[in-house]
Amino acid sequence: MKLWKKPLKVGLVGATGVVGETFINILEEYGQPIAELRPFASVNSLGMKIELAGKQWPVQVLKADCFYGLDMVFFSSGDDISLEWAPEAVRAGAFAIDNSNAFRMNPEVHLVVPEVNGHLLNPQSKPQIIANPNCSTIQLVVALKPLLDKFGIDDVTVSTYQAVSGAGLPGYEELIHQTQNYQEMDHVPKAFTKQILFNCIPQIGTFGDDGFSSEESKIMTESPKILGVPDLKVSAFTVRIPALNSHSEAVWVTLKKDTTKEEFTNTLGSFEGLAIFTEDYPTALEISGEEPVFVGRIHQDRHNKKRWLMWVVADNLKKGAALNGLQIAETIFC
Ligand SMILES: NC(=O)c1ccc[n+]([C@@H]2O[C@H](COP(=O)([O-])OP(=O)(O)OC[C@H]3O[C@@H](n4cnc5c(N)ncnc54)[C@H](OP(=O)(O)O)[C@@H]3O)[C@@H](O)[C@H]2O)c1
Repeated sequence: MKLWKKPLKVGLVGATGVVGETFINILEEYGQPIAELRPFASVNSLGMKIELAGKQWPVQVLKADCFYGLDMVFFSSGDDISLEWAPEAVRAGAFAIDNSNAFRMNPEVHLVVPEVNGHLLNPQSKPQIIANPNCSTIQLVVALKPLLDKFGIDDVTVSTYQAVSGAGLPGYEELIHQTQNYQEMDHVPKAFTKQILFNCIPQIGTFGDDGFSSEESKIMTESPKILGVPDLKVSAFTVRIPALNSHSEAVWVTLKKDTTKEEFTNTLGSFEGLAIFTEDYPTALEISGEEPVFVGRIHQDRHNKKRWLMWVVADNLKKGAALNGLQIAETIFC
């Protein structure tokens, strides 16, 4: 990641959450120049301080005029808070990079994965709301974009295996607690609909009338928007699994043109942000903390030679959330 041209004044809403913590860690790791950090959380976190760039920044609560003077505010605390406060940040003259679902399908808001459609933004862009896509969407579209450009895509089917950190700190803590008390078999689920330990739950979000969950709908509607192909057929089935971090996806993609495994692999391998496994395969545990989207187990379907299968894994807190948000900032401030 390139460094910002000047030290920025940065707001972070949801600073005490798992995505907020990852955002701070990445800023620190890259040594981005910080003129000010204004961390926001709920009243429960008042009194806490967030450490960054050698200073302690006290956690604040959202209130009128709280964004004045900031260059950018990263929102990561849920749809309702973003709906109410992201427009306030823009009114105050800041870019609002929103990690919630609130604005993603708003036709007036760019939904950005920089490697895929970063051209929508540039250093001349005016302060605006920019939506950060759903975590499982981001890793999917990074893997699809080079295939779309080279071969064209007829349709995509994806089955996900999503880690508990995707449900925030409560989800993470629930799996840790159940693991520490694994002999109790009557765990009362809170963050999930059923016990997550020793289990797989085929529900992420709420179900619509058509049987798809809200997480599946996000993948199916956001992917065509980001890829710039509104009629792209994407079908998703999402499952929560007892992995702590990083989402895995089995993807079936039907191309418009014939290709070989070598050409398919090389096409993915030459795309920014992708790392390809040709011998072994990536797993959630092994790639957690890494930045790229990893692809392995590339092979051709037995029944349709235009159909290919691949295994796509990425850190949902990094590329699926905080890192993608910071890469959006890079397109504006570098
Ligand atoms: N986890 C992921 O992989 C992921 C990926 C992509 C997108 N997202 C989205 O990112 C957002 C945050 O997710 P997360 O996983 O980081 O959740 P989380 O760990 O539960 O953190 C939620 C954050 O929101 C803060 N918050 C709650 N009420 C607030 C209020 N009234 N004012 C200001 N801040 C408030 C919390 O502060 P307190 O600590 O004070 O309660 C906490 O900092 C959600 O919209 C989620 O859908 C998450």
